[in-house]
Amino acid sequence: MQAFTFSTSQRIICEAGVATRLGDLCKQEGLMSVLLITDPGIQTLGLHQGALESLEQAEIRVHTYGKVQADPPESVIMDALELAKSAQIEAVIGFGGGSSMDVAKIVALLAHPENKQSLADIYGLNKAQGKRLPLIQVPTTAGTGSEVTQVAIVTTGETTKMGAVTPLFLPDIAILDCELTLGLPAPVTAATGIDAMVHAIEAYTSKIKKNPISDLMAKEALRLLASNIKTAVHQPHEQSAREAMLLGSMFAGQAFANSPVAAVHALAYPLGGHFHIPHGLSNSLVLPHVMRFNLESSATLYAELAPIMFPQEDFKGSDMEISTRLIGLIEALITALKLPTKLRDMKIPESFLPSLAKDAMLQTRLLMNNPKDLNIDDALAIYQAAY
Ligand SMILES: NC(=O)c1ccc[n+]([C@@H]2O[C@H](COP(=O)([O-])OP(=O)(O)OC[C@H]3O[C@@H](n4cnc5c(N)ncnc54)[C@H](O)[C@@H]3O)[C@@H](O)[C@H]2O)c1
Ligand SMILES: [Fe+2]
Repeated sequence: MQAFTFSTSQRIICEAGVATRLGDLCKQEGLMSVLLITDPGIQTLGLHQGALESLEQAEIRVHTYGKVQADPPESVIMDALELAKSAQIEAVIGFGGGSSMDVAKIVALLAHPENKQSLADIYGLNKAQGKRLPLIQVPTTAGTGSEVTQVAIVTTGETTKMGAVTPLFLPDIAILDCELTLGLPAPVTAATGIDAMVHAIEAYTSKIKKNPISDLMAKEALRLLASNIKTAVHQPHEQSAREAMLLGSMFAGQAFANSPVAAVHALAYPLGGHFHIPHGLSNSLVLPHVMRFNLESSATLYAELAPIMFPQEDFKGSDMEISTRLIGLIEALITALKLPTKLRDMKIPESFLPSLAKDAMLQTRLLMNNPKDLNIDDALAIYQAAY
């Protein structure tokens, strides 16, 4: 067996309503002051209110930074960091989707009193040094799995994203409270759910670091996500489906944190960068086409996933036939979730596809994990198929 390392968050608490006990949890950790990082949508909904009240009841000094934008730009991180430093907080809580959790990771690192690095210093693999402040992550989407990953993604220019990757970003506590996700709107539930499924599929077929623990996590993630995503979208208050989605997205996060994602994400990022398409939807738009491209390298692995994702189907035939059928079923699922399926529906000019292909090739950190080598002509052909 190929040697491997598997890392994940130290402590995971999965309990409906647990966010309203955040104050007690922080007290047990000996924390006296925290910065809660969230976004304006969550603030307007008041989703963080129960957590704030419990922190106040526990006599913990709380500052809230509530201006995280989706696909957070560097300016948001600098803003939140300034607040963390001026308020001299001891710990950071990320409360929201991947955007808020990613900002929280970086702020916890750069706000540490002994930190000497700047934001630019930490981009890339294991560039971050030293220590971070205590970090608690509370996902409200299901999701990026950011609560169990070593990655934080930042929008660095008008259209480009960069990742900082370090074990320091694994939080002390990840809190899964499905009650927070009950009001997640259908399009966000669908897109973030597909993002989580992509994490699991790409982890399972990843070329370099595929390992038995990630495989286990990816399969369980896909079992939970595929069998609950329709219910979560169409019957949003069905708590058991929401809990399964949150758990599934965390398993998928654990899988890809240790067996990284590949070409689906590489081709999705330029869509988010240039056209502000949400991360999950960008993935969904290219997923079937990248899978078709990968078929010749991954048919056996896709065929293993098919009955896990669609247990009601009677899969017969060769691995290639089963995998081809799986891709068709995934396309039908995306349509049933009422997500757009064509790049042309996203107001992307066809003449822009070559620029997207050029940008996708910059994602070398991701492309190196793809089971089949992909060049710029392949990327263009995939975008054309998705158009
Ligand atoms: N760190 C990682 O491992 C990792 C992995 C994948 C993606 N990402 C990054 O995560 C970001 C995307 O995160 P995301 O897809 O979770 O979305 P998000 O955090 O950008 O949030 C999307 C929208 O959903 C709303 N929302 C969130 N929770 C809600 C709830 N419970 N009810 C109602 N509305 C709610 C927010 O207000 C926001 O408007 C991107 O920046 C992406 O690059 C990070
Ligand atoms: Fe993702």
